Amino acid sequence: MQFSFSDRYTNTPKSFLNELFRVSRDPSIISFAGGLPDTNLIDLDGIRAAASTVFEEKGRTALQYTTTDGYLPLREYIAERYQKRLGIPASPEEIQIVNGSQQCLDIIGKIFISKGTHIGMESPGYLGAIDAFSLYEPQIHTVPLIEGGPDPDSFQELIETRQPSFFYGIPNSQNPSGTSYSKDRRKELAEILRGSDCAFFEDDAFGELFFDGKPRLPMKHYLPDQTILSGSFSKIIAPGLRIGWIHAPAPVLERFNHAKQAADLHSNLLSQMILHEYLRRNDLDHHIRQITRVYKEKCRHICEHLDSLGLAHTEPAGGMFLMATLPEGLSSMKLFSEGVKAGVAILPGVPFYPEGGGEDTIRINFSSPSIDEIDCGMERLGAALSAL
Ligand SMILES: Cc1ncc(COP(=O)(O)O)c(C=O)c1O
Repeated sequence: MQFSFSDRYTNTPKSFLNELFRVSRDPSIISFAGGLPDTNLIDLDGIRAAASTVFEEKGRTALQYTTTDGYLPLREYIAERYQKRLGIPASPEEIQIVNGSQQCLDIIGKIFISKGTHIGMESPGYLGAIDAFSLYEPQIHTVPLIEGGPDPDSFQELIETRQPSFFYGIPNSQNPSGTSYSKDRRKELAEILRGSDCAFFEDDAFGELFFDGKPRLPMKHYLPDQTILSGSFSKIIAPGLRIGWIHAPAPVLERFNHAKQAADLHSNLLSQMILHEYLRRNDLDHHIRQITRVYKEKCRHICEHLDSLGLAHTEPAGGMFLMATLPEGLSSMKLFSEGVKAGVAILPGVPFYPEGGGEDTIRINFSSPSIDEIDCGMERLGAALSAL
């Protein structure tokens, strides 16, 4: 038989991520192409101890159905942390737990995008967002990332001429570029948006991972009623728990909650309770300092290698990624193929540019490989570059 798949699915370009994950699973290849946190920094003993307490003390509750909005003590923890760390007013009622912040992208797409709806995002932009939104058939318009964040003139033009439903951006240590918006740019974008009907969808997957440990005020601070803010425990505790959240204005949250209920009833309660028990017993700030110390060192190490290979690159202040630019005339797609032959995987920049471009850029993940793998992988990258 011929299955009758939806136009929505059939019209969506196939994700490059499948190919990427296939290559990244080959153990002989050193991968800078993935996006995994450092496995050695997952506090296995701590999570095991928290899990065992949950099973002993509240096991039957943890294995029951629950409400869609999520485990209240965990939402209280998140709200308190916003207030303590960033001075942002947040109540547990404004927080909804999700299956990793990736689910926010899908649900926001579902409740905001009709076929042809205009939306805006950064160029380059997060591939997982391009894939998630594309399934709802929007018209995606991009604003180039320049020094300090999205180009304000193009941003203003987009808001005025296309009236997008939302602009999706990652102000802190963006994936893929590794760049962060300056304070002035945050204010400037907020001013442009104020009074318009365009929401700012702020993905803060990396906001806790600044190498200097200093928090940056989110767009939510400058534009509270218009900003939909998402966060995640994936990069600071463990991605396998699949716990993230959304902090959104009431009219958005109401619809978000309805759409999430239709999708999965609620996020995994066992995961939520184990995570909350873990956070109750451990010093999250101390744990994050350990992670950022390691990532800072790995990032510095990779930057030195790229410098000696003569590749220009961004200088991340945090996060897990950076972008490098290839010498003129070199194609990143060719480098990907040549790299795989040499036993190293990088990610070509092209899929991050939904409106085209980026042929000479590559994304490099620095959180996952060890320092030894970085040395060996960069040597292989050098060989692949020479071969081209
Ligand atoms: C920018 C960004 N947003 C969201 C996600 C999704 O993460 P999770 O669903 O694990 O929270 C990722 C994953 O790498 C990401 O890079």
